[in-house]
Amino acid sequence: MTSKENFRWGVSSSAFQIEGANKADGKGPSTLDKRKVRAGIADTSVAADFYHHWREDIQLLASLKVTSFRMSISWTRIFPTGTGSSNKAGVQFYDQVIDALLANNIEPVVTINHFDMPYALITQFNGWLSRKSVNAFANYAKFLFQHFGDRVKTWLTINEPLMVMYNPAFNGSHYQDDNRSTKANFLMLHHILLAEKNAIKLCHQLVVNGKIGPVSSFQNVYPASSHPEDVEAAMTAESILSYWALDVAVKGKYPEITYNRLRKLKLAPQVSPADQIIFQSAFPDFIAFNYYSSIRAEKYHTPTGFVIPFFDSPLFSIDMGPQRATKKWTAMEADPVGMGIAARKLYERYHLPLIITENGYADTEVPSTDSIVQDDKRIEYLSKHIAICEQLIEEGVPLWGYFIWSFMDSLSGREGFSKRYGLVYVNRTDTDLRDLKRTPKKSFYWYRDQIRDWRAKY
Ligand code: BG6
Repeated sequence: MTSKENFRWGVSSSAFQIEGANKADGKGPSTLDKRKVRAGIADTSVAADFYHHWREDIQLLASLKVTSFRMSISWTRIFPTGTGSSNKAGVQFYDQVIDALLANNIEPVVTINHFDMPYALITQFNGWLSRKSVNAFANYAKFLFQHFGDRVKTWLTINEPLMVMYNPAFNGSHYQDDNRSTKANFLMLHHILLAEKNAIKLCHQLVVNGKIGPVSSFQNVYPASSHPEDVEAAMTAESILSYWALDVAVKGKYPEITYNRLRKLKLAPQVSPADQIIFQSAFPDFIAFNYYSSIRAEKYHTPTGFVIPFFDSPLFSIDMGPQRATKKWTAMEADPVGMGIAARKLYERYHLPLIITENGYADTEVPSTDSIVQDDKRIEYLSKHIAICEQLIEEGVPLWGYFIWSFMDSLSGREGFSKRYGLVYVNRTDTDLRDLKRTPKKSFYWYRDQIRDWRAKY
């Protein structure tokens, strides 16, 4: 049920981006720990050092008055080699974090896997490329449900399956950039989607009153012009980038037209009768999606603008906008209306409740050590998106929650700490750990007041 009274006001994070301590207490290496980061960019060894600051960080969450905290569990803290016996110290760490959140009336919303694949599974059988990963993941998910399911009731499966398939740093593959749109990538994604199904099924079996959903990197795609061929390219782009994975999660099958086009290109995975049974074996309780901005597509010809290699397939090419052409992420075009369009598309296609699990604004932000970051641009961005949430609810969309990415400054994709999304400033740079002191930014207080006003109003 959605109502304004029980709306989840949250902030988001993921294990490898905040925890640090990547070798502590028996943790095994993940793909993200092993990736080669560019010189001068922070790696996973310290990150925001949540592993040693979690008590203080949860106090900050409590003062922010959020109802929910989205976190992920690091697979290799629980199973250092991906399978085998569990690591007590890792389990204990999450026990403490989850208990402290609950003691502060904060609901833990837990992503089972957010990009960090056990490295041992890459060396053993090429990770998601092998069907063995499906079993390894089921074993891991089962452990989480059995151990934490008495306290964690809202689960997210695998963060952004399409991004996992796309990014070698996440999936641990050694494919070259120009070779991403291959059958192997879609096979990896196929295994991820089978693994996701098993997790949904296990959650329903093992977690009393548990709710679980997929997390999509939903891409709202506009046609570059009203030319019919561009309109069709936008439909195809959206179908691959967004509905390919979600249709499997919600309908138990790939979108037919797109599947047949990709089959002609020898990219689509084979769906065996056994796979079909797994695909139809369980369905999610809600859809979670992450939204930052929208993109444009045009009929495939010589690509223009900034083209992501995988996304630039013979079916369509993606234009991220003129500012994106320079790869200057700070100039990313905000499109709050696009978030409403995305929610509408999702709800009208699937008729399931929605949760926005990531929405946020990145900037460089280097304050003098004793001053608060005046992040007015972030506040402007967030307030426009929150207004859309309110409109969606008014118009009857069962929106269960909104989570800001992110709670605190954390490791960002390829840019480490030079790109900050947090409501809380973490005093470190990519090359200097300083004192890791936490200082709420202006947006922290603004969000706290939003939550307070919202609750007072309804
Ligand atoms: C989301 C991911 O897609 O984008 C997060 O789930 C990530 O993990 C966020 O941090 C922002 O991306 P980036 O590359 O700017 O950090």
